Amino acid sequence: MLKDNFGRRIKNLRISVTQRCNLDCIYCHREGNKASGQEIGIADACDISSYNSEMTTEEIVRIVKISAGCGISRVKITGGEPMLRKDIEEIIRGISNISSIGEVSMTTNAAIDADWNKLKNAGLKRVNVSLDTLDGEKYAGLISSKIPVEKIIKNIKKARGVFDVVKLNMVVMNGINENEICDMFVFSKDNKIILQLIELIDSDKEFFSKYFYDLSGVEKELEDRADRIITRKFMQNRKKYVLSDAEVEVVHPMHNTEFCKNCTRMRITSDGKFKPCLMRNNNLIDFLTPMRAGAGDEKLKELFIEAVGRREPYFCD
Ligand code: 5AD
Repeated sequence: MLKDNFGRRIKNLRISVTQRCNLDCIYCHREGNKASGQEIGIADACDISSYNSEMTTEEIVRIVKISAGCGISRVKITGGEPMLRKDIEEIIRGISNISSIGEVSMTTNAAIDADWNKLKNAGLKRVNVSLDTLDGEKYAGLISSKIPVEKIIKNIKKARGVFDVVKLNMVVMNGINENEICDMFVFSKDNKIILQLIELIDSDKEFFSKYFYDLSGVEKELEDRADRIITRKFMQNRKKYVLSDAEVEVVHPMHNTEFCKNCTRMRITSDGKFKPCLMRNNNLIDFLTPMRAGAGDEKLKELFIEAVGRREPYFCD
């Protein structure tokens, strides 16, 4: 299996199938395309031209196949909002038909009424739904459209009726929803959903300094209450807290050397580039241009390996 120069195995792929989104949450880093790292200014980072150069289903499936040949076994489909793609079912089917891909999951905002059964039949194993609050007014303030939170809640419940594992992604922000962790916990527990508490990632310095909320206090409390703590190997060593009647995961990517040390993920942007790190935008490798110019699988494999070679922990000791 392929390892990078820091001994990290590359096991999973996070693939953005579109930059388009129907919500545009105020905090969104656009899968790292909008990052306030030193390497790139925000203005450069959000490349509107990429809206027009989404990969086709065939291109997506081909690049996943090549990545699978290099050891990738799990794929997460993300966006923007992936369900804005009319061919999302075909994308899922194409990826899950690749024999060495063991798991295909998707992150969605659940604002579009999906036929979850169809997506499951196409091979989708799990879904993560982004929801930061249960409060309608607060929700309206976080998004740029007029979708009521009740719709999202209804769709989450429907998804849970179809999938064994549904995760709720809650980005915790100071002064916005940090006081709702408890409510979200109860909601998740009642609906047998895994709550994933996520620390804010810096995509805008001002926003970040105003709203960052440190989850270590919450994590300490979970540690005390948990029956079991599972360290998710190959998932940046994230901790999962198993309580008697609920499961909670905590993700803190910022300034966390453990997170980077245990990162096994390659990313793909919607416009066909390997993105070796969420936080960096100066080391991407375009594979779509050569693919469209007729490059063979061997050449594309070389590009994947080159991208792996560019992986470097962003936060290190
Ligand atoms: N900080 C943390 N997580 C973020 N996400 C998007 N932007 C940010 C950010 N600034 C995560 C949300 C969403 C997923 C697609 O990306 O958890 O569910």
